[in-house]
Amino acid sequence: MPTRNIGILTSGGDCPGLNAAIRGVGKPAIGKYGMSLIGFRDGFRGLMQDRIIRLDDELLSGILTSGGTILGTSRDKPNKMPVGDKVLDMTGVMVETYKRHHLDALVCLGGGGTQKNAKLLHDLGLNVVTLPKTIDNDVSMTDVTFGFDTALGIATDAIDKLHSTATSHNRIIVVEIMGHRAGWLALGAGIAGGADVILIPEIPYDLESVANAIRRRTKSGKRFSIVAVAEGAMSADEAKSFTELKALKAETKSKSQRATIKADLTALDNRRGDHTLNLTRDLEKLTGLEARLTILGHLQRGGTPSAADRMLATQLGTAAAQCLEAEQYGVMIASRGDQAVPVPLADVAGKKKLVPADHPLIQTARLTGACLGDV
Ligand code: F6P
Repeated sequence: MPTRNIGILTSGGDCPGLNAAIRGVGKPAIGKYGMSLIGFRDGFRGLMQDRIIRLDDELLSGILTSGGTILGTSRDKPNKMPVGDKVLDMTGVMVETYKRHHLDALVCLGGGGTQKNAKLLHDLGLNVVTLPKTIDNDVSMTDVTFGFDTALGIATDAIDKLHSTATSHNRIIVVEIMGHRAGWLALGAGIAGGADVILIPEIPYDLESVANAIRRRTKSGKRFSIVAVAEGAMSADEAKSFTELKALKAETKSKSQRATIKADLTALDNRRGDHTLNLTRDLEKLTGLEARLTILGHLQRGGTPSAADRMLATQLGTAAAQCLEAEQYGVMIASRGDQAVPVPLADVAGKKKLVPADHPLIQTARLTGACLGDV
């Protein structure tokens, strides 16, 4: 049987565990199944530009514990690729690269956007297998994504550290936690770190409710309050505008009007640090307590993957290699219970896994006295 050729790329924001997953795919693909493996540099851009690196046993050694991705990554989308001063659909060029290397399959490691982009290529006839990575944990059909556990540990550790300085100064400390439009990281780290207020995008907040919770703490003699805020958290008013804009975009036919609405939506999406700074100032004014802001930012994506992420990435990676061997394509390898399960890409692409209103952890947070800012 001729050697089978496999391509692999990492796309979207990086996260700890990507290298463990590359190794998880590569070790069995090369060592057990005798496949040949090439990596494309910097996500779909490398596939377009045909920038490759041949992966062998030596390159796959010693990367299990390292953060980032040895392949490099980018947020470029195949069908909306910035090329010079234009944004072009380059999917055709990527199909050509795939054919030039006589690839039998392409493995794409990424978050929600990557699943969508991988499906696009799959629909054009490429054999695609994907893995779910992101610190946001918002990829649908999988219990968890690799990268999440490490980021959760980093954010929790930060909240632990902020407690002592907040107490010493009798302050409010607001800590902004990543997660894009999902609250998994803030909710998890908020609970694990014992934050007093936890604000997540899925529960629009009322500023007065938050201020009242802090006032109650002060009255009961508490010398500090930790406010864990997801970067995508929104006040009730902002959430209303966001929903209205999204509905308007869906029903607007005119291309230029849609572009204007999209720009407004992006502005709401990108207001992160500014929003949290304003929230900090507002809480200071409303409560009369000194308030400080800590934005954890990309610290949450850096460094060594946790043991749990290494295990998950390795399990999903090796399951992807088994799929390649079985020629099962058009799937994402999901984590379900203790199993790695291939699920159709069509069921994953374009969907986001947000924190459901009835998620047990929301109840857990409330029962331990955290304010979730509800109106
Ligand atoms: O998707 C992972 C993530 O870290 C989000 O939590 C965050 O909103 C975004 O990426 C930041 O993206 P970038 O690294 O491109 O600034």
